[in-house]
Amino acid sequence: MDRRDALRLLTVPAVAPALGAFDFGSPREASAGAQASRAVPDVELTMRAAPAEVTLLPGAPTRVWRYTATLVRGPASTVQTLPGSYLGPVLHFRRGQKVRVRFENRLSEPSIVHWHGLDVPEAADGHPRLAVDAGRDYVYDFEVVNRAGTYWYHPHPHMRTGAQAYQGLAGVIVVSDPEDDALGLPSGDDALVLVLQDRRFDPGNQLVYANGGATSGMTRGGGMGRGGGMGMGGGMGQMMETMNGWLGDRLFVSGVNRPERTLERRAYRVRLLNGSNARIYKLAWSDGAPFTILGGDGGLLERARTRPFLTLAPGQRADILLDAGAKSAGSTFTLRSVAFPADAVGHVGMMGELSPLPQGAPLDLMSFTVGSGPARRHTLPDRLCTPPASWAASARAPIRRVPLTFMRMEWLIGGRTFDMADVAADETVAPGSTHIWEFRNEPNPMGMAMAHPIHVHGTQFRVLSRAGAAANALAEGISDTSATDTVLVLPGETVRVQITFSAYPGLYLYHCHILEHEDMGMMRNFRISAPTR
Ligand code: C2O
Ligand code: CU
Ligand code: CU
Repeated sequence: MDRRDALRLLTVPAVAPALGAFDFGSPREASAGAQASRAVPDVELTMRAAPAEVTLLPGAPTRVWRYTATLVRGPASTVQTLPGSYLGPVLHFRRGQKVRVRFENRLSEPSIVHWHGLDVPEAADGHPRLAVDAGRDYVYDFEVVNRAGTYWYHPHPHMRTGAQAYQGLAGVIVVSDPEDDALGLPSGDDALVLVLQDRRFDPGNQLVYANGGATSGMTRGGGMGRGGGMGMGGGMGQMMETMNGWLGDRLFVSGVNRPERTLERRAYRVRLLNGSNARIYKLAWSDGAPFTILGGDGGLLERARTRPFLTLAPGQRADILLDAGAKSAGSTFTLRSVAFPADAVGHVGMMGELSPLPQGAPLDLMSFTVGSGPARRHTLPDRLCTPPASWAASARAPIRRVPLTFMRMEWLIGGRTFDMADVAADETVAPGSTHIWEFRNEPNPMGMAMAHPIHVHGTQFRVLSRAGAAANALAEGISDTSATDTVLVLPGETVRVQITFSAYPGLYLYHCHILEHEDMGMMRNFRISAPTR
């Protein structure tokens, strides 16, 4: 398959029809965790994680790990396979659907799936303590209570999230709802899902990752072993690279290396996901057109925004309007990440930036050619959504300081490192309660700090304020919203967010979404439970 054919497959089909005939009861009635599983789901699928071979580069195929899904029940449009990609299928859910997924782990090591951004019961959240061994299955039951938006799924096993996601295990979830449908945004052939990822290869076209992967045939670069200690090969350089976050030097969009696509002269809705382990993009269109930003992680903004740059950190999504109807016939342009100083992201260790394509190196992601047909313009509605109540500022929310630090060769969040079961008092919140968490990215005594995209499970929170890094080159591309699940905290910056936690009780996670940081312990549990007095 050539690159153009592969890219045709990135088009999103028309959304599933509304499910008006069903009565699901209130979302919160289903909140008794696994009990929800007795109801008949609207959508049922099996999702298998297994080794596969995909042609990613000229020459030998690449051994990857890949999710494949089979629809058991529900609308045929639920599962959109991306042939020729290492990514799992795009899953199309409707708000209000009850979903059951049978996850089949056919890898050679434990795994579990996490539904990033979705508000689901504890048993469905993919906490590492729930990981199942090779050959075993895990059944998820949840109701889609989130707003229409772009979410995603990826593995979450203890200390292996980075390695497994890097080998290909990830996919996009598109949630639709009647409010979103009513806007008349481009859909069907005019909607694209673009997953931005970087990878590194050996001369035999096999993926190279420092943090192991020998079990699947992925080349082990040496460095950090599974237990977090120094490996035999690679040595200090690779260990420091892992500490800074693993970067690739080949760019992939939805599983295709540097794709090209021809557009009709009309508007497209483009959903972007930064599915990279560690790379931060400062996106721009090469023809100087600004971005028309419709939404972020957790759905649409109240009003569209126009911005020259779009900073997208690992885990983050953006919903944008690409108006090819405003461009001249036959013109070409690329989606690229523009140059910024590596210091904007920062690093630790005395050796500086070691990867073949450092953070901030300019790079092209995808090329577009505008067709020659008649131009058709698209008029956006003035308002894209009615702001939900959770967007209002809360005057009484308690404030918790959460320092992000690097001490004794460890990344810490809130001064602590990950422990499978441990939850501190300041990490315990009541169901549905609202808190302000203040992430303070503090340089260590050597002055070293890194940008950390901080992710909180099971909620969409509101960014209240940022201070301390306005001069950072990435700052001008940051587009904060009131419905985000992953917020970039720049070196030296303090970011306040207002979080209304899930109504589902249980043990959830918050962590840095640089996957090597997460795997090295820059992650903590929080517990949603009624306050004990
Ligand atoms: Cu996208 Cu806990 O992860
Ligand atoms: Cu998540
Ligand atoms: Cu981090």
